[in-house]
Amino acid sequence: MKILDDEKDKLLDHEYDGIRELDNHMPVWWLWLFYFTIGWGFLYLLYYQFTDVGPDQHEQYEMEMAAAAEKYGNSGDEADSDLAVVSWEFEMDAASIENGKAIYMSTNNLCFTCHGNAGEGLVGPNLTDKFWIHGCSASELAANIANGFMDKGMMPYGSNAPISEEDMTDLISYIASIQGTSPANPKAVDETRALECTIE
Ligand code: HEC
Repeated sequence: MKILDDEKDKLLDHEYDGIRELDNHMPVWWLWLFYFTIGWGFLYLLYYQFTDVGPDQHEQYEMEMAAAAEKYGNSGDEADSDLAVVSWEFEMDAASIENGKAIYMSTNNLCFTCHGNAGEGLVGPNLTDKFWIHGCSASELAANIANGFMDKGMMPYGSNAPISEEDMTDLISYIASIQGTSPANPKAVDETRALECTIE
């Protein structure tokens, strides 16, 4: 084995199968990198584990979820709770009812196509009689209209063009205003599901 002169004093005195080892030092830049990672790890531990200076993983998760909820609005069931927060009431003045009727008859919302021009019912139930499948309070009406009945073909109202609270109020007010009218060709009551309910 050939050993250079300046390697002699670095040679360690062990040998395995003819393989020997020089006691070379690590390059200085490498050592500093190593010390730096130790320092970094120590500070990291202090920052996240032993002090309250920065948020830990769980707090960061909560913060991101909160930020997303704020940015995109709540999703799923929670969306309905926004509706529930509004305390819906009927506004029985002429202007509100007029606007509600315009919404009911509009080609954007198509309520009349399923519930009839006068609310007598067609595909959807009669909205003028006192029998209701899903309740008749102002907040039940608003929730039913906003959520729709997808399995029966009624879209969530306002799903592609959000409806203002004012328009929703006018719409349910219009429905309240046609209660007890007896339009021609009323759709028969679904006696297995509908219950008597008085709009007030
Ligand atoms: C594509 C047809 C369709 C359209 C359009 C539609 N509905 Fe309906 N609607 C239905 C059906 C079907 C039901 C009955 C759901 C059930 O059987 O559970 C219903 C139920 C309802 C109910 C509950 C009735 C009850 O007895 O509890 C209300 C209130 C209502 N619709 C209002 C509206 C309004 C207001 C609009 C317009 C914004 C509208 N609907 C548009 C089909 C429709």
